[in-house]
Amino acid sequence: MHEKIIILDFGSQTTQLIARRIRELNVYCEILPYNKMPLDDADVIGVILSGSPFSVYDEKAFRIDLSTIRGRYPLLGICYGAQYIAYANGGSVEPAGTREYGRAHLTKFDSQNPLLHGISEGSQVWMSHGDTITAIPDSFRTIASTEKVAIAAYQIADEKVWGVQFHPEVFHTVEGTRLLQNFVVGICGAHQDWSTASFIDTTVANLKATLGNDKVVLGLSGGVDSSVAAVLLNKAIGRNLTCIFVDHGLLRKNEFQNVMRDYEGLGLNVVGVDASAKFFAELEGVTEPERKRKIIGKGFIDVFDEEAHKISDVRWLAQGTIYPDCIESLSITGTVIKSHHNVGGLPEKMNLKLCEPLRLLFKDEVRRVGRELGMPEHLINRHPFPGPGLAVRILGDITREKVEILQNADDIFIQGLRDWGLYDKVWQAGVVLLPVQSVGVMGDERTYERAVALRAVTSTDAMTADWAHLPYEFLAKVSNDIINKVKGVNRVCYDISSKPPATIEWE
Ligand code: XMP
Repeated sequence: MHEKIIILDFGSQTTQLIARRIRELNVYCEILPYNKMPLDDADVIGVILSGSPFSVYDEKAFRIDLSTIRGRYPLLGICYGAQYIAYANGGSVEPAGTREYGRAHLTKFDSQNPLLHGISEGSQVWMSHGDTITAIPDSFRTIASTEKVAIAAYQIADEKVWGVQFHPEVFHTVEGTRLLQNFVVGICGAHQDWSTASFIDTTVANLKATLGNDKVVLGLSGGVDSSVAAVLLNKAIGRNLTCIFVDHGLLRKNEFQNVMRDYEGLGLNVVGVDASAKFFAELEGVTEPERKRKIIGKGFIDVFDEEAHKISDVRWLAQGTIYPDCIESLSITGTVIKSHHNVGGLPEKMNLKLCEPLRLLFKDEVRRVGRELGMPEHLINRHPFPGPGLAVRILGDITREKVEILQNADDIFIQGLRDWGLYDKVWQAGVVLLPVQSVGVMGDERTYERAVALRAVTSTDAMTADWAHLPYEFLAKVSNDIINKVKGVNRVCYDISSKPPATIEWE
C-alpha cells in the first residue's frame, strides 16, 4: 500500500477539505471516524484531528485516547482538535467572549517552528470557533497568536504534537496549504508521490490480486463515475468484466446509442438492454414523484439482475461509488444523508461481493483518473443526470410522446450550451416539461400548447446551487429554437430559483 496521513473526523464541515488539500500535495490521506484510529497500519505516517460541532467540555463531545497516537506519529490538531489536545492535558478551554469567526492575522510568531516555516508574519488565517484555549499546560509552547487569540497555535515541547485553532484547510487561510505541507512533508516526511498514475497502477494491481479469475458485473449509467470504474476494471481483468447499460427509455435524445458507441470505443465488454417498454408500461398513469423513482429503481434492479444471470458464475458487483458517498455514509453526526439511492439493495438481492475501485477518490480525482486512462473529454465532463432520467423532468404522468417532446427541447438547450461555450460553465442543465398548456399565436393560428422550463445551475456539490446567469441573447436563441422546432411547445420559461429552498430537479 501507500504511506498515508490519517484524518480523524470529529464531525466538522471542513474535514473533507483537509483531505482535499493534502491530496493536492500528492500525499495520500484517509478520513476515519474519530474513534477508528487504526492501531496496526504500518503505512500511517501522521495524524490530524479535525474540528467538531461540539465543545470539548460538552457531555456529548467526542473523546479519544491520545496515548495511542502521541509518541507514535506526528499529530496536528485543528480547531476542536487543538482544543481537545490542550484540554485533555490539563489546559483550559472556555467559551470565547465574542465568538471568533472570520479573518484574523498571525502575530507574535515563531518563524523557526517547523510548522510555520515559510509563512509570513501577519498572514491571514480563518477562525471559526465558539470556544478558545485560555490556558495551556507548562509543556506547551505558544507559537503564534492573532489579534484576539493569544494561543492561536502551539507545540508540545520536545514532542511532535501541534495544535492550531484556525483552519488551515479553508481558502481564507491564505498560507494554509503551506502549513499543511509543513506538517505532512516537513514533519511527517511524506514523499509527495501519490498521483493519478500511481493510483491507477496500485489499483489495477490490487484488483488483479483480489479478483483473480472471478467474473464481475457493473451497471453503467453514462455518468463519469461508473464509466471510469469500468475502464479501470477493464484494464485489470479485461473480458471477465461485463458491463450492463440499461435503457429505461428516459435518457436524453440519442444518449443510449452515443454512450454505447463511446463504451465500445473504449474496448469495454458492454451489454446494452433496451427495457423501455417495461418501464413505460409500469409508469403509465403514475404522477407521484417518489413512486416514479421507486418504480424505476426496482425496474432497474430487475432488469440488471436478469441480465447478470445470463452470465455464468458471476461473483462480484462493481460500482462507481466515490469518496464523498462513503464519508456521508460514515458521517458520525448523522446530519448528511445521501438523498438518492437509485439501486440500493442491489448487492444484497444478487448475493454478490461488492467491488468499489473509486471509493477513495473525490470527483475531480475520478475525472483525472479518467483522463489518464484516455477516456474522451465529453464522457469525463458530462453533467450529472438523475438515475430516473427524464421521468423526474416530466411533471405529471409519462408518455412516449411527452418524452420525445422533452428530448427534443433538451437537445436544443444542451447543444446550445455547447455551441456557446457555456456547457462547462454550469454544473448541470436540462429542460422540464410542465403540466400546463397555454395560448399562443403562430402565423395566423391560435395555438394551445405546452410550456417548458429551462433549468441551469452552478454548484460545487449539488447540496446547494444557484441558477446560472446565462446571457439573455443565449436564452433568446434557445427559446426561439425550441418554439420553432419542437412541435407541441409554444412557451419557454427560465427557472431562476436557487437551492435551497428549491431543488435542482423539479420533482
Ligand atoms: P436535487 O433535485 O435534490 O438534486 O437538488 C441534487 C442532484 O441529484 C440529482 N438527482 C438524482 N440523482 N437519482 C439520481 O441519481 C435521483 O433520483 C435524483 N434526483 C435528483 C440531481 O440531478 C442533482 O444533480
